Amino acid sequence: MPPTEANTQPAIGVFDSGIGGLSVLQALRAEMPQERFIYWSDSAFAPYGERSDEFITERSHFITQQLIAKGKVKSVVVACNTATAVAIESLRQQFTDIPFIGVEPALKPAIGLTQTGRVGVIGTHGTLQSTRFENLLQTVLNEASPKTCAFVIQACRGLALAIERQTEKPQADTEEVEQLCAQYLKQMGAFGKAPGQMDTLVVGCTHYVFVNDILRSLVGPDVNIISTGLAVAKQTHRLSANKLLDVPVQADLPGHEAIQLWTTGSLRALEHAADRWLELPPSCCHFIEPSKI
Ligand code: DGL
Repeated sequence: MPPTEANTQPAIGVFDSGIGGLSVLQALRAEMPQERFIYWSDSAFAPYGERSDEFITERSHFITQQLIAKGKVKSVVVACNTATAVAIESLRQQFTDIPFIGVEPALKPAIGLTQTGRVGVIGTHGTLQSTRFENLLQTVLNEASPKTCAFVIQACRGLALAIERQTEKPQADTEEVEQLCAQYLKQMGAFGKAPGQMDTLVVGCTHYVFVNDILRSLVGPDVNIISTGLAVAKQTHRLSANKLLDVPVQADLPGHEAIQLWTTGSLRALEHAADRWLELPPSCCHFIEPSKI
């Protein structure tokens, strides 16, 4: 039964350019099992990483308005490094009543973990060339001093889109993704624990979390692979704490579904992703017209 828009309990809104943010939703559900979530996959407009700042900002504002209209959201998780880098400040300025939680590449934890002092960072072009990322990098390097540390930064064009495409089929065909991961990691240099090698890899795109196994097979068993889902879930929990539901969600009633997933792209792809990664049934998944701004 499709969700009704009236009489819904407050939800936490979550959005991404596509299905990548489901990796953050996994962590959010584990951290707050009693919460209600509304997820927006903007797959008709993915990948964001190769779009202009203006486009991403306009989409982010539009999606936030839609989430508010659909579910009386009490907080919004921008489950996309690219949209966080480009748009989170303007979202905070526009929607002053709602806490926004963003995701960004985990450079600080990486500094704490690395022994060789060389850290690899992968993400989208949009994230890695943003002013926000540049500022983060400078801050982390200043804080790390006098510990010597170098970041090897690699934008992975096409990888998020290839991961989106994987979900079109019921069984993932990983060939394109494997080839892209191998190509980009090779360009970065050697991974491992020996001096001069990268012993830590920061996964700076929520899509890439779903190819963790492939990344692991390429960098070897000893390299730290870091993503941000858990930290974001804990931060969301803290910021939503004063607005938490005090009664369990009535998931069996229309309009009270504990989790609604919406996509502007292929409903079938979203259903496959929901099943594969979140063990959610197709009834949680809905199509929304990808209205242009
Ligand atoms: N999942 C997104 C991120 O974390 C964006 C991928 C894309 O659309 O380019 O950056």
